[in-house]
Amino acid sequence: MTYETIEVRTEAGKVGIVTLNRPKQLNALNDQLMDELGTALKAFDADPAIGCMIVTGSEKAFAAGADIAAMAKYTYADVYGKDFITRNWETIRSVRKPVIAAVSGFALGGGCELAMMCDFMIAAENAKFGQPEIKIGIIPGAGGTQRLPRAIGKSKAMEMVLTGRMMDAAEAERAGLVSRVVPIDKLMDEALAAALSICEMPGLAVMAAKEAVNRSFEGGLSDGVMFERRVFHSLYGTEDQKEGMDAFLAKRKPAFKNR
Ligand code: CAA
Repeated sequence: MTYETIEVRTEAGKVGIVTLNRPKQLNALNDQLMDELGTALKAFDADPAIGCMIVTGSEKAFAAGADIAAMAKYTYADVYGKDFITRNWETIRSVRKPVIAAVSGFALGGGCELAMMCDFMIAAENAKFGQPEIKIGIIPGAGGTQRLPRAIGKSKAMEMVLTGRMMDAAEAERAGLVSRVVPIDKLMDEALAAALSICEMPGLAVMAAKEAVNRSFEGGLSDGVMFERRVFHSLYGTEDQKEGMDAFLAKRKPAFKNR
């Protein structure tokens, strides 16, 4: 498969890396890019050799938002009729293996929303996050009004959505939007190290853990706890649970088989 708006590679045969690649537009997200990103992530998800994925951009921009040039002339009939955003922006949510966002530079509008759709973010010191849609007469359209308050709380999220103010990496880490901030030149090394450590874990438990954390993020507490309990129970049907616990008790390294 050849791509025009992203670059795709693997590391150590286990980690799938997608680099957003529309440098002249600061990786603004258009239909072609979102189609290609979805196709690449689904292919990695289906590849048994791959245990984790990373989505990243350039040093200057993870992504500066949805492509304003592409959507400036849209009418209500266009966006509602074509279900603009939902059609190809939600693909990433159906990926079952973990996806890490490695964010350097601007992650604005749809770029911030795309990073939030990933499972966690590692940010470079120059990262800047924001939902500036209000400044161009719209509101976030790819989950920003829902995921940002869940991630950083109502007050900060409301301020950012209403004023379009950007948040730097240090503030994003304090607020819990990103898991860690690292020097720019270490961003990919750190994201790769995290991805490789996930690849060492038993694959079924990794997918189950991702599903359960997302249930907490997206639903109510009692539903989430019940969902977690059932998934927890179900892992006792896997060989890797027996192997993991036997290995711990025998003080040896486990040999997981993803079964
Ligand atoms: N869409 C299309 N083109 C974009 C873009 C975007 N979101 N963001 C930047 N670009 C283009 C600029 O038009 C410019 O192109 P030209 O060189 O052809 O003029 C090029 O990228 C470089 O941008 P700037 O010259 O503006 O660079 P800067 O360093 O001065 O500023 C910036 C960087 C602060 C990110 C600024 O570009 C900016 O504010 N971009 C728009 C951010 C924005 O509003 N994002 C939200 C979009 S709406 C959305 O995302 C809806 C949704 O929820 C899905």
